[in-house]
Amino acid sequence: MKFIDLEAQQQLLRPQIDDAIKRVLAHGKYIMGPEVFELEERLADYVGVKHCISCASGTDALLMSLMAQGVGPGDAIFTTPFTFVATGEVISLLGATPVFVDIDPRTFNMDPEKLAQAVKAVDNGWLIEDGQPQITNRTKPSTINHQPLTARGIIPVDLFGLPADYDTINAVAEKYELFVIEDAAQGFGGVYKGRKAGSLADVAATSFFPAKPLGCYGDGGAVFTDDDALADILRTIRIHGKGEDKYDNVRIGINGRLDTLQAAILLPKLEIFPEEVQARQKAADKYKKLFNDLNHQPSTINHQLPFVPNGLTSAWAQYSILLVSNKQRNALQKHLSDSGIPTAIYYPKPLHLQTAYAGFGYQRGDFPVSENVSERILSLPMGPYVKEEDQVKVLEAVIEALN
Ligand SMILES: Cc1ncc(COP(=O)(O)O)c(C=O)c1O
Repeated sequence: MKFIDLEAQQQLLRPQIDDAIKRVLAHGKYIMGPEVFELEERLADYVGVKHCISCASGTDALLMSLMAQGVGPGDAIFTTPFTFVATGEVISLLGATPVFVDIDPRTFNMDPEKLAQAVKAVDNGWLIEDGQPQITNRTKPSTINHQPLTARGIIPVDLFGLPADYDTINAVAEKYELFVIEDAAQGFGGVYKGRKAGSLADVAATSFFPAKPLGCYGDGGAVFTDDDALADILRTIRIHGKGEDKYDNVRIGINGRLDTLQAAILLPKLEIFPEEVQARQKAADKYKKLFNDLNHQPSTINHQLPFVPNGLTSAWAQYSILLVSNKQRNALQKHLSDSGIPTAIYYPKPLHLQTAYAGFGYQRGDFPVSENVSERILSLPMGPYVKEEDQVKVLEAVIEALN
């Protein structure tokens, strides 16, 4: 059994992908070839925004989005510690300060109420109540850099494919005049109240890493926005800050282009993507039914299934369940592995506890929900091509392990 079956999709699309690669080899425009622009148009159409700026990875998509907003030292960018490191890394790369905000225990996405508290605290110059700052239990980044922080932006993450609570997050942003960058690396294909992930904030970043909902055969990413001026800036940042031509450099940029070959590979994949999103939903429904049937039996397994708020659709990048304890999670993972069932832990260590962020002085206990979830979460085999019989096997192994 595979954790994500990428081969099944390749078999299905092999002739189209072979043709696409041959076409690129024939025209030889490996950098910014016609497939790049065709893909951008189709992606923008799919998401329902004016502009798609493809780029070299999801990390570059986030980095370019921050650069386009002119982010730098002294800027506070609010994000969740329960995410892949790239989300926080890009903030630090620009010398800005990531201010972490704990997650909602049911959706695992940024908790908008805690976001409002954190923004208020930074906006007030980290006002201290009862000798303690409001964000966590102790004084945080502002004392490390010895400089005042200015609240500038928010990066909510659509974790495991589920869009974050954008109505509330965008309202906080509006109140404090902050920009919002949707990290849709995992959310691409998801829907929030009728709008597609990638269109839910001022700008959105996604990843085409092979295992992502829409993946290429290497690294790739894209930025989405309705803002014409921002799109122009993003297009120049992607190519070394180019102006009129590539030897006219009007700003500092990066080498952030998507390879033509990857764009060509993505085109046939995008064609079947809507069906794949439906197939992921079907697989999620199947897991839900299997787990719920289980709970009607006398020996109930304690777990929390993924929660999808009304009006939202997950892209189901992962199907992650929450066990009762770290011990139970680890024992279950071992039993599944012994039974030939691959699983993954996203993420075993929240960002504030990573060595890379040790300089901020965060401690265990600062973001209790993220910490607790990281100890109990387990992602099961998932994807558009996961077989129902394999899902049944997963459940059988879960029952064996937990009863
Ligand atoms: C939430 C999140 N943000 C950003 C990224 C970075 O994407 P990439 O690996 O394409 O740079 C990833 C992917 O790993 C991710 O899961």
